Amino acid sequence: MDSARPHERPTAFDRMLTPVHRWIWSDTDRRVQKLLRFSETETDGGRDILRAAEVTSDPLLRRLYLEHAIDEFRHGILFRHRAAELLKVSASRSSPGFDGDWLAPGGHGLDDLQVDGESDSSMLAFLHLSEKAAASRFTVYRDVMQHDPPTRAVFEEILHDETFHMNYTLTQLARVEPERHRRHLWGARLSRLWKAYLRLATALAGILGSMLLAIQYFVLLPPFAWLAKRAAHREGSGWTMVSPGHGDSLDRQY
Ligand SMILES: [Fe+2]
Ligand SMILES: [Fe+2]
Repeated sequence: MDSARPHERPTAFDRMLTPVHRWIWSDTDRRVQKLLRFSETETDGGRDILRAAEVTSDPLLRRLYLEHAIDEFRHGILFRHRAAELLKVSASRSSPGFDGDWLAPGGHGLDDLQVDGESDSSMLAFLHLSEKAAASRFTVYRDVMQHDPPTRAVFEEILHDETFHMNYTLTQLARVEPERHRRHLWGARLSRLWKAYLRLATALAGILGSMLLAIQYFVLLPPFAWLAKRAAHREGSGWTMVSPGHGDSLDRQY
């Protein structure tokens, strides 16, 4: 597909994280893992957009969604082929300890997409924001990839398509909802923000839960362990003599 407008500029947040992205992508093994994961994201996204083409009743959208899905499948193949090439030349086969996925995620966030039950306008608003996020991140990933021209070329090629996706979804949204397309965009923005908050809250809850368990283990358990040990010391070893008469009851042990 051909892009109708110039490339999207990366957001201030993505630009601010450029040194982090440069560091994340500098390791070959990490690059392989990330490219493979991006490949899955693109292919999954393509599958969802194919479903969107099936359920829409708008003939123009169906055709655009089909072309879009083909693009996403192709992106998946491009990422996978590049990962395979890097794997061939990579000296180490060990998986990297830190992949920085939450700092350098796949482009789209299309994993949040729920195709069935969505109207054309809400689908287009969601797709537009997802493609815009992809274009922003892929611009930064391309720019930090000077040390690896073939991977940089892959990002450059995919970025071209993502920019087109970003533009056509906005144009179509304005066509199907000329009056309320801004409201749909804000709705989609709030929904993405809410999902991002939920993801952050889940991650924080996991960290806090681990910290609380560690505090319980090191602070609360030792006194109980000490009391149990003291009780064990007080307990005489071996058989205990029972005073006569104590063993007569059939209701209790002693
Ligand atoms: Fe893509
Ligand atoms: Fe895309």
